[in-house]
Amino acid sequence: MPESMRALVADKVGEPADVLRLESRPVPTPAAGQALIRVKATPIHASDLHVIRGRYGFTPEFPTVGGHMECVGRVEALGPDTEGLTIGERVVAVAVPAVPGPHVAGTWQEHLVADTRRLLSVSGDLSDSSACQLAVNPLTALLLVTRELDVQPGEWLLQTAAGSTVGRLIIQLCGHLGIRTINVVRRRDAVAEIKALGGDEVICTEDEDLLQRVAEIAGPGGVRKAVDCVAGPVGAQVSQALAPGGKVVVYGALSTHRQTDPAALTIPLSARSLIYETKTVRGFWLNRWFGTTSAEDALHALSEVRSLVADEVLTIPQGQPFPLERFAVAIALAEAPAHGTKPLFVFDDGRDNDGSQGVRR
Ligand SMILES: NC(=O)c1ccc[n+]([C@@H]2O[C@H](COP(=O)([O-])OP(=O)(O)OC[C@H]3O[C@@H](n4cnc5c(N)ncnc54)[C@H](OP(=O)(O)O)[C@@H]3O)[C@@H](O)[C@H]2O)c1
Repeated sequence: MPESMRALVADKVGEPADVLRLESRPVPTPAAGQALIRVKATPIHASDLHVIRGRYGFTPEFPTVGGHMECVGRVEALGPDTEGLTIGERVVAVAVPAVPGPHVAGTWQEHLVADTRRLLSVSGDLSDSSACQLAVNPLTALLLVTRELDVQPGEWLLQTAAGSTVGRLIIQLCGHLGIRTINVVRRRDAVAEIKALGGDEVICTEDEDLLQRVAEIAGPGGVRKAVDCVAGPVGAQVSQALAPGGKVVVYGALSTHRQTDPAALTIPLSARSLIYETKTVRGFWLNRWFGTTSAEDALHALSEVRSLVADEVLTIPQGQPFPLERFAVAIALAEAPAHGTKPLFVFDDGRDNDGSQGVRR
């Protein structure tokens, strides 16, 4: 086992391009209840960058190793008296540092220690790209559709940023469950792709009026359930488009990213529509869900996601692999318009677990 390893560290709160640097750190030693993981692949989510900017739901102590969401790797060592895992086992680690309880360190490093209660065993059939993105977005899609909104077969679900990774997973899950989707995208180019993926209806805000189109599609009954990750005026329109008694779950605020004017960080809701049509606007945050769910139930939900992926109900788009040294390019890509699939940091030789050569960039 090497004594030192590479880690991508942010010295202080700031713009990731300015504060991140590659560092050599000692390989950590697992304590009781922990495993040492050799990381194979880990994604760059926009939320990882917001953590570094100090603009997420929690702020870690700095300096901090980046990547506060998820990774896949192999167990290299176990802490004293630690059972339930074997050396060499392939696992997904879910980092939920914002809440008390089981903990996983930043994932943008070659080795990390993780509480074994946050590790899900995954088979070799699942590629590294899929495995390292299994926890956050697919689990969010599953929880939003089946728990938060309990959408029933035949019902409409309205969603924004339908071309996002979460949005695509929601389309696939809804198709499987017989739920009809109305998908909002901002770019004309995305329309055909969303339809090909199984989206029942697509509204392009570049060309169409959201309220008018939802009324045309859903008819006088309207849409009773929606999920929104754009916020701002688009989120407001989604709440307006709801039928009386309808509910929208807000789980992201893409239109507020990089905004600093407090007025740009809002969802300007219509008080009259909320009151007289008794609508509900509610938030969802996976970190908080982990904080209010037992580790056993969380692993159970994750294993449900693992089965949906194994059964090819959910297909996680193949990520774009980068070595850690190319972090500046990877990080810029993570938030670029029309960036496509997730940039991933990959370790070792850049090969996927199934042996296929990942794209080296
Ligand atoms: N609350 C939670 O626990 C939770 C969990 C998971 C994800 N999320 C949130 O879910 C959202 C999607 O995440 P992801 O990883 O799936 O994203 P992603 O794969 O990186 O995709 C981002 C998508 O958002 C679209 N977009 C970006 N800015 C937009 C804007 N201002 N208006 C409309 N569309 C915009 C992009 O459209 P283009 O293709 O046109 O560029 C792209 O399709 C993020 O806000 C993320 O933080 C929240």
